[in-house]
Amino acid sequence: MRELILAIESSCDETSVAVIENGAHILSNIVASQIKSHQRFGGVVPEVASRHHVEQITLCIEEALAEAGVSVEELSAVAVTQGPGLVGALLIGISAAKAFAWAHDLPLIPVNHMAGHIYAARFVKPLEFPLMALLVSGGHTELVLMEEDGSFEIVGETRDDAAGEAYDKVGRVLGLPYPSGKEIDRLAHLGEDSYHFPRAMIHENNFDFSFSGLKSAFINLVHNAEQRGEVLSTEDLATSFQASVIDVLVTKTIRACQTYPVKQLIVAGGVAANQGLQQALEEAVASQLTDVDLLIPPLRLCGDNAAMIGAAAHVAFAKGELADMSLNAIPSLAFQSKTNE
Ligand code: KG4
Ligand code: ZN
Repeated sequence: MRELILAIESSCDETSVAVIENGAHILSNIVASQIKSHQRFGGVVPEVASRHHVEQITLCIEEALAEAGVSVEELSAVAVTQGPGLVGALLIGISAAKAFAWAHDLPLIPVNHMAGHIYAARFVKPLEFPLMALLVSGGHTELVLMEEDGSFEIVGETRDDAAGEAYDKVGRVLGLPYPSGKEIDRLAHLGEDSYHFPRAMIHENNFDFSFSGLKSAFINLVHNAEQRGEVLSTEDLATSFQASVIDVLVTKTIRACQTYPVKQLIVAGGVAANQGLQQALEEAVASQLTDVDLLIPPLRLCGDNAAMIGAAAHVAFAKGELADMSLNAIPSLAFQSKTNE
């Protein structure tokens, strides 16, 4: 049977709508980014985000259907991000999804945004369980163990800042436009690790992370240099910062994959686009993990997009995890722990 899911994502600063066939084929994936509107504020302004979503959502739905060459009558269901994210932004997608589902009498599938990031890897190849996912985004840094489709156990997470958040904060100190992860990644390939920032918790026997100490060390170094009138190398700062982040992420991820007998390692979320991280993980997996397959979604599926929501929705749909018209946004939606299921 041909299953066609219309998926909607509006949790932060991208309005995105996709049409996904059988959970594995992208027929369309429209992404309307608002980054330019937020850049002059140095971060996402929730109210501005909501207004953009309102303007874009209907156009994105029409464009996604047109590009996929799919009529409304052919759709099997509508999926939408329920959280985590900005409440006002989430509500635009949810309202649109509910209206569309109600008007066309279609089932409504709520999706966890972070599950979506993991399922972006489904477009690379089928998932094999158990698997480990390193989730690195602007709001999350987690190691997630999946025993089967739709089951998520967080085995490690950040105690303070998320990796992407640290990138964006040090980027601001360097005067880079928001979000600065991509630019720091580019600069990091031009310098040397001459500042040797701390690698927090790297030797601790757990899978947790901490990035606020690194952020403070970076900011203090830059401010002290400014006060002394010293000029620091931006490239070396970027290289040193990125080396610390990657060292910790890779060390803990490899250790987690050695502790749990996983078949695949998925790297997901906006920071998964980082070229330095991808390279370091490829090398570490090749040399330290036998029989673990590394899956990294293509760049355009690392950041926020609705295709990944459609892939996760396919699994939820098969399990009958549907919502009714009372569906509401949950800004701090977490993975359901196994005991709560
Ligand atoms: O997953 P995402 O698009 O949005 C959230 O759900 O948070 O992640 C956005 C984050 C931002 O912090 C951004 O700076 C970071 O991903 N990012 C990167 C790179 N590209 C985006 N961080 C490091 N290196 C990159 N190449
Ligand atoms: Zn995201």
